[in-house]
Order: sequence, then C-alpha cells, then structure tokens
Amino acid sequence: MSTVIANEPVLKSPQELFDFIEKLKEKRERKLQKPCVYVCVGTGCTASGSRKVYAKFVEVIKAKGLDIKIEKIDDDDEPVKKTGCCGLCSLGPLVKIMPSGITYSHVTVNDVEEIVERTLLKGEAIERLLLTDPITDKKVERLEDATFFKNQTFYIMEAVGTSECESIEDYMARGGYSSLAKVLSGMDRLEIINLIKASGLRGRGGGGFPTGLKWEAAYKSQGDIKYVVCNADEGDPGAFMNRTLLERDPHSVLEGMIIAAYAIGARKGYAYIRAEYPIAVEMFNKAIEDAKRYGLLGKSILGTDFSFDLYVKEGAGAFVCGEETALLASIEGKRGVPRPRPPFPAQSGLWGKPTLINNVESYANVPKIIRDGVENYRKRGVENSPGTKMFSVTGPLKLTGIIEIQFGTTIRYILENICGGTSNGRKIKAIQIGGPSGACLPEELFDLPLDYDSLKSVGAMVGSGGIVAITDDRCMVEVARFFLDFTKRESCGKCVPCREGTMQAYNILEKFTQGKATYEDLENLEYLSEIIKTASLCGLGKTAPNPIISTLKYFRPEYIEHIEGKCPSGMCTAFKKYVIIPEKCKSCSLCARSCPNGAISGERGKPYVIDQEKCIKCGLCVTKCKFGAIELVG
Ligand SMILES: Cc1cc2nc3c(=O)[nH]c(=O)nc-3n(C[C@H](O)[C@H](O)[C@H](O)COP(=O)(O)O)c2cc1C
Ligand code: SF4
Ligand code: SF4
Ligand code: SF4
Ligand code: FES
Repeated sequence: MSTVIANEPVLKSPQELFDFIEKLKEKRERKLQKPCVYVCVGTGCTASGSRKVYAKFVEVIKAKGLDIKIEKIDDDDEPVKKTGCCGLCSLGPLVKIMPSGITYSHVTVNDVEEIVERTLLKGEAIERLLLTDPITDKKVERLEDATFFKNQTFYIMEAVGTSECESIEDYMARGGYSSLAKVLSGMDRLEIINLIKASGLRGRGGGGFPTGLKWEAAYKSQGDIKYVVCNADEGDPGAFMNRTLLERDPHSVLEGMIIAAYAIGARKGYAYIRAEYPIAVEMFNKAIEDAKRYGLLGKSILGTDFSFDLYVKEGAGAFVCGEETALLASIEGKRGVPRPRPPFPAQSGLWGKPTLINNVESYANVPKIIRDGVENYRKRGVENSPGTKMFSVTGPLKLTGIIEIQFGTTIRYILENICGGTSNGRKIKAIQIGGPSGACLPEELFDLPLDYDSLKSVGAMVGSGGIVAITDDRCMVEVARFFLDFTKRESCGKCVPCREGTMQAYNILEKFTQGKATYEDLENLEYLSEIIKTASLCGLGKTAPNPIISTLKYFRPEYIEHIEGKCPSGMCTAFKKYVIIPEKCKSCSLCARSCPNGAISGERGKPYVIDQEKCIKCGLCVTKCKFGAIELVG
C-alpha cells in the first residue's frame, strides 16, 4: 500500500480510515496463511543478536530466490518481518515461522539456512531449536502451546509473535486506529471521558488513580493551551513493561494519546521516554511520522478541525524524573525535581498550563475500551481493578520476563503456572512487588488476588508492575538494604526527610547485615521509616521505606536474629568466618601471600591461622588454597 502523495495525508476522513482498516484486516488474514518469518527485534533479542539473524534470513531467502517465489499480498509484504517482544527475552533471539506457527528460541545465524529449508519450505519442526516447556518438560512447537503463554491473558499485548512492530498498516489491520475514527466520527468529548470513567481504568504508572477522573479534571481546567504527556520514564530497575509495549506496539500508545488529546482539548503533547531505551525512541518516532503520513496526527486529523502535534523528549535516566511534576520540569528544560501538589498537573502542568499525564500502558488501554465497549472491557479483571496488567517477573524462576495477566490473578498462579516455579529447587519465601519502593510479601499471602485494593490491604502496591521472586536462601534484611541503597541514591535531595532519612535508614540496615545492630537500632529504624513516609515531599520518599516496613511486618524474626548474632538464611557474610582446617593445611603460605589485609599468618610445618579481626571476608584465600583447607563456617 504505497499510495502516499508527498505532504498530502493518505486518509481524509474517519470513514476512509474505517474502509482502509477493513481492507487491511482481510490482507493480514491472507498474509498469515503464507510462508513468512517473524524475527523478534525487541531490546532483549537484539542484545542476543536477533538483528543479525534477521539480516541472515533476508540474505538466505534472497539467495534462494524465495523473495520472488513467495507470492506477495502487497508491495510491503516481505517474507521476513520484524516483530516485537513476546516477553520471553531470556530465550531470544526468538523466531516464528508462519503459517505453521513453529517458534524457535536461541536462534543463531548458523541456524538460518536450515530453518529456511526445513521449516519455511517444508513445515518441519527442528527439534533442537524448539522451546522446552518447563512446566510439562516437553518441547512445544508453537508459542501459544507453551504454558507460559497459555496461562496469560493477552489483551494489551496482542498478536504475540506476529505483530509487525514497525508497521502502522499492521496495527490498523488488527483494528488499530478504528477507535480514533470512531471518536472523530462525532463522539462528544464528555462522552469519551464518561466511557473511560465507566471502564474503571486505573493508571498503570503506579498510583492506580482513576484515569477517567484525571481526564475530566484536565477537560474542565481552563486554559488557552493544554498538553497531553506520556510517562515512559520507567526508572524501576528490572522493569521493562513500558519499553516492551513501546517497542512492540507503539501505535497503541499513540492512538491512546491522540484520543486523550481530543477528549481534553489539547493540541500538543510529549512522550517522555528515557534515552536508555533507544529502540523504543526509534519506534515511537517512526510511529509519529507514519501517523502523520496517514493524516492521523498533525493538522486537521482525518479532515476534521482537530489538530494535535506530538514530540518525543528523551529523559536522562533519573528515577525521580518518573514522578510527574519532576518529569514536567524536565520537559521544560529545568532540573527534574518534584514540586508540591496541588496544583495537580491537570490544573497547572507544563508551563503552567493544564496537562494530562498518563502512563504508557494506561494510554494503550484507551483504544481497546473504545473499540470493545465498557462491558466487554470489564470482562477481564475484577470490579475495582478492571482489565489486565503487564508485569515484569524476575528472580530464580524457570521462566522470567514480561507477562500480562488479568487483575485478580493470584501471585501463586503467576509464580507456578506461568513462570514454572523456581529453577534452583528452592522454596519461594517472598515476593517483592511494585518496584524499588514496593513491599515484600510472604508466602502466606501468595493466594492474594493481584489488584489495586487487595495489595493495598496488605501494605503493598501494584506500582509499575515489577515482581521479584525471593527464595529461602535470601536474607530479607539484605533485600531491604538493597532497595534502600537504590532509593537513597535516587533521592533528589530537595527535602530533608527523604534525603537524610533514607541515608540514615540505609546505615542502620547496613549495621544489621554487618552484625552490629542493637534493639535500639530496630526501634530507630521503625521510627525513621514512619517519618520518611509521612514527611517526604513526593512519592519517592513516601514509598521508599516500604521494603523496610513490609519486611519488619512479615519477617521481623529475621531482624531479631541478626541482632542476636545470626543471619538465618546464611546470606550475610558478616556472620560467617573463614577458618583454616589444621589437618588439611600444608603450610604452603599461598593464602597468606594473597590475603589483601594481611589476615593470615603461620610458619613452616605448622597450620596457618586467620586473624578474624583483620579478615574482611573477601574469600580470596579460599580460591588460592589448592588443598581445600579453608572453609566458610557460621
Ligand atoms: C519516584 C517516582 C517515579 C515514578 N516513575 C514513574 C514512571 O516511570 N512511569 C509512570 O508512568 N509513572 C511513574 N510515577 C508515577 C507518576 O508520578 C504518575 O503518577 C503517573 O505517570 C500517572 O500516570 P497514570 O495515572 O496513568 O498511572 C512515578 C512516581 C514516583 C513518585
Ligand atoms: S521525597 Fe525525595 S525525591 Fe521527593 S522531593 Fe523529597 S528528596 Fe526529592
Ligand atoms: S593455602 Fe591452604 S595449605 Fe597453603 S597455607 Fe593456606 S590454608 Fe594452608
Ligand atoms: S577472606 Fe580475604 S581477608 Fe579474610 S583471610 Fe581470606 S583473603 Fe584474607
Ligand atoms: S525482546 Fe524478543 S522476546 Fe523480548
């Protein structure tokens, strides 16, 4: 479909868009029935070499003349296509072959020739490249048959393995932009806002604030100019749901933003994407250009009097810049620090003008709500948390990555039925949920349904959607210390409770892990956590103590044991000591010569000894001793 006339938008009315979508839908059905290779080019697969695999497929297919032999449905229908992340990045590069749907993991350039010969041309599966389902322990041919995928609810992440991430036409062929056409066919602004309110959509950026109410506030705010902003900062370490969505389906976010702009009366918008996400930035910029080309963005959208311009602003990567007021300051070119609210951005945001700010995933829900209707939308999820949510699951599980579930799914279901349980055979004793300022929940709460209110009732939050599985060999005090280390470093320093409080709380936690804590430290830690929580200016400080508060609530005995001189999980090395077993020592002196702190001494013919006062527990001596004479005990 290359009927583009320079500077002239392709589509000039909502009806033209509807008709165009219908044609593309039918073409997509036909495309999926013919030989084609889909190579994942998301960040994860790219890092493991998928773009080289993609280039190799193009080369081999051309060399064999298949690019001519395989009948094209239209000019853009290439036999090798780029697709976005399906969530299992650790198994990348992932390649899906149509029409069989056979999917391969860990594909290298050396596998390409064979895949073309056997799978693309003959439909045969190559056993060694198939994914092993860790739950059934069987090889699976198609992604859809793997338990990891079967047990998820794909809604926002649609067309797993066959979405063409760089193609606006493919998005339209899946019904994309039909919601925009519907909205511009004569829907009243308040009608749209009421629809979003009725859907029960809650912000996916952390707080879970009702999206419709926010839109209503921005709509009602008076201002000659209004802005729409997308928060794609995603600073939580280990979380990459927003990146995944922007890379695999940028138009879903873009369409949501355009509809939002229409609903609140905005003419200009920004997508704030962290610069560390170069592929997402590239995809979103391309999406903007393609949408403009079709007349879906820019002046007189689809021939109506609605105009909207959108720009990408790359963020420098500070966690605090995800906080909405800091983010807006950053767009304005100021230092990214939060300011007190009210006024909220909906009243006074960018350059003092009414600004709607929503998360990437929140926007991606909007076209679905309008396309499917409120009743259908609410069929997924639970009453107060309708819809689905993408989560990033990490930890020692058989499968980790990005998943999508409907709200109300239990934590246990995710850990066992989607991720396949632990990879090291250990028991999961806790999860940490909601990003670095999230809470740690014990195994007893794993049957809790995941939704905004249930999590709140146990002192946790959905947050951005990070879940870390923690096994019984991990120390919960150390887990709290680890997260405080992050938040104390990311504190912008504007207010004392957060700047000084997180530092002091971290120091106390370090005393615990170093075996130097007292009962007074425990009291101080509790007191300090409450102060930081209540007195900090922004959400970073207000939530930073959550890992401490939750571990004190659910894992208090671990803190006590540290005071009493023991780390129950055996993780904190301060409670252990390196000792030389006299019977095994051959007095070779190698350990003494390599010890960085001069902690080992001895003389010929006698076993060497370690001075525990001097030992810094680096473990170097163990690696040097050829006789296995040094052991870690405690
Ligand atoms: C320290 C901090 C970091 C945040 N980071 C993000 C982020 O990366 N992405 C995001 O959407 N919201 C983030 N938020 C929440 C935003 O302030 C804001 O509530 C959100 O973008 C609103 O969108 P929503 O209503 O669609 O959730 C952060 C908040 C705090 C306090
Ligand atoms: S709470 Fe922390 S991050 Fe937020 S303004 Fe205060 S110092 Fe900055
Ligand atoms: S390296 Fe081993 S054998 Fe040699 S002195 Fe040290 S403990 Fe003894
Ligand atoms: S653990 Fe490190 S500091 Fe301690 S005795 Fe061995 S080498 Fe020296
Ligand atoms: S990037 Fe390929 S599966 Fe995630």
